[in-house]
Amino acid sequence: MTVQNEFTTHDAEILPTSPLVEFWNDTLAPKFVKYRHVLEGGLSRHSETVMPLLEIARGDHVLDVGCGFGDTAIAMANRVGPEGRVVGVDCCDAFLDIACNRPERRFAPNVRFESGDAERGLGVAQYDFVFSRFGTMFFSNPVAGLRSMRNALKPGGRMAHIVWRGRKDNPWLIAAGDIVRRYLPAPGADARTCGPGPFSMADEDTTRAQMVAAGFTDIAFQRIDAKVQVGRDIDDAVNFQLAVGPAGETYREAGAEGVARRAEIMLALSELFEGVQAREGGLWMDSSSWLITARAPR
Ligand SMILES: C[S@@+](CC[C@H](N)C(=O)[O-])C[C@H]1O[C@@H](n2cnc3c(N)ncnc32)[C@H](O)[C@@H]1O
Repeated sequence: MTVQNEFTTHDAEILPTSPLVEFWNDTLAPKFVKYRHVLEGGLSRHSETVMPLLEIARGDHVLDVGCGFGDTAIAMANRVGPEGRVVGVDCCDAFLDIACNRPERRFAPNVRFESGDAERGLGVAQYDFVFSRFGTMFFSNPVAGLRSMRNALKPGGRMAHIVWRGRKDNPWLIAAGDIVRRYLPAPGADARTCGPGPFSMADEDTTRAQMVAAGFTDIAFQRIDAKVQVGRDIDDAVNFQLAVGPAGETYREAGAEGVARRAEIMLALSELFEGVQAREGGLWMDSSSWLITARAPR
């Protein structure tokens, strides 16, 4: 059995890296890797129930956009069987390193990982199914990114992406952000960011219009509610929130002011998590996403 241990890079030498891709690599990557147990564990709660229902058939060629640590790409590689293949693409090399070295990858020789910016093209008419779990909300130009995904599909091919629903249905990210904003100013217009952000596709009408503009048909939205683990314990949850998401962004952008107020912010966050449900070795909060399915025209 041949296992590819390194991912391929296909566009880095042609165009300068976009600021968003730089931000994922130089700022978010170490934080996401540190809190992989929270992120992969939580995000998988939003794919595990729908994954078996997706119209992926044995022998299909599948693309996983913004594949992160690679768990969904490998799960789909098992679905398509040895006669199918899966490509996981991500713009963050540290995530692809982890994806390439997952132990279960040894048993999925039909999956390949590639480094690339999805907004700059994903190939033309190569795939039967294009998937993304929480990867599309960060496109700087959502219609261009979604159009890349549609172009990558063969005529009549299917797509599914999972995106966060609105803030009020996602206290696991928002409650801590609101607390941190009581102590620190909101990030300014010049803040470095990972793109439009986790709630940029929460509005059904806007996202449907973007999908239509990108050329998709048969667009359907299905709500998924799930409890996600926000940390193993209170300390883990507090540190996770200060690293990623709206709380982390506010804290990071505040610089020295944030550091000066870190202790009182941590105390306030601890009080939030003291009131959160503890079970199965962790703290659990509500979250809610859309499963959006669509088709490329025939
Ligand atoms: C929230 S993470 C989700 C990762 C993974 N799909 C999961 O559910 O665990 C978003 C992912 O999208 C990737 N990403 C963001 N913008 C991208 C782009 N323009 N091209 C490729 N990947 C991108 C990030 O590097 C990151 O791995």
